[in-house]
Amino acid sequence: DMGGHDTYMHKEIAEQAEAVDRVLRGRIDDRFATVHLGGLNLEPGEARRVRRIKILGCGTSYHAGQIGAQLIEELARIPSDAEPASEFRYRNPVVDPDTLYVAVSQSGETYDVLAAVQELKRKGARVLGVVNVVGSAIAREADGGTYVHAGPEVCVVSTKCFTNTVVAFALLALHLGRIRDLSVSDGKRIIEGLRRLPGQIDEILKTEPEIKKLAREYADAKSMLFIGRVRGYPVAREASLKLKEVSYIHAEAYPASELKHGPLALIEPAMPTVAIVPDDDLLEKNRAALEEIKARSGRILAVAHQVQEKADHTIVVPKNEDELDPILMGIPLQLFAYHTALALGRDIDKPRNLAKSVTVE
Ligand code: M6R
Repeated sequence: DMGGHDTYMHKEIAEQAEAVDRVLRGRIDDRFATVHLGGLNLEPGEARRVRRIKILGCGTSYHAGQIGAQLIEELARIPSDAEPASEFRYRNPVVDPDTLYVAVSQSGETYDVLAAVQELKRKGARVLGVVNVVGSAIAREADGGTYVHAGPEVCVVSTKCFTNTVVAFALLALHLGRIRDLSVSDGKRIIEGLRRLPGQIDEILKTEPEIKKLAREYADAKSMLFIGRVRGYPVAREASLKLKEVSYIHAEAYPASELKHGPLALIEPAMPTVAIVPDDDLLEKNRAALEEIKARSGRILAVAHQVQEKADHTIVVPKNEDELDPILMGIPLQLFAYHTALALGRDIDKPRNLAKSVTVE
């Protein structure tokens, strides 16, 4: 049942405020400025002894894990990174006893992730799951974890589950942070930011008519560049994957700082750039990148907290706490990918060559 929407993708994009509300519900502890995650199975003493966090996933879940790693590093100050599960399992990784492993998956059935979990468990590692489908294979194999509560996601292209997975990571980061060195006031600040998310998501969704117009303007591109810096970089990667999957337009994501090391050679009017420009301590750096692109006659679509003069178009999104901004900045680009695909007459819910869950090697 698509509830009045023409595709599941559109329905699932539209459901994100409710979905985020669901992942937050019943978990916030205002008294201690923290969150409780029931099934984590990680005692405070154990959480304090974790020296590293390695997040494993594929596709969109891997991108959510990249934002998750940044959130954990920022809020809990635990060195963290994300890696595609398939790369991890084929490179004979060093499995270290002080590392906490986190497997991320919407379906909970992705074979590469499951195989990585099984290999880690065989070697005695502690593995948590951040999974959407309750009772799925990865949820069962993991030592504990948290459900993402996005609800069923039918479209092959993941949207609401991405957003909810990042929010679930924010909760995990806050939880670990408050067991370690995150202050009460920072804990409160993050909780207030989390509570603002559903309303801000609805605000973004209201700008759909404007995004639809922009998508039509850019739909003739053969290729697009997506750039971002630090918090904005995984947002750019996920937005680029979304556009490729559903519109079949080639898209490539790059850290904005790497432009001058090569991709600047691609810039010309026929190669538009989508730039993630949050209003944080890197704003001036990002503006400089826009200037470099403009000087080479590149078209720019910015996703930002204020109109960017150097950009041809800006999609303005509401500001949250710096750490939580990536959760919101990807949402207009889901709509952008959707409307581009619609303009090109693509099979939105079932893009060619793809399956919802990849249960084979
Ligand atoms: O079910 P999973 O989250 O484990 O799936 C991982 C990827 O296969 C998935 O995210 C894929 O990249 C989607 N088509 C993204 O839209």
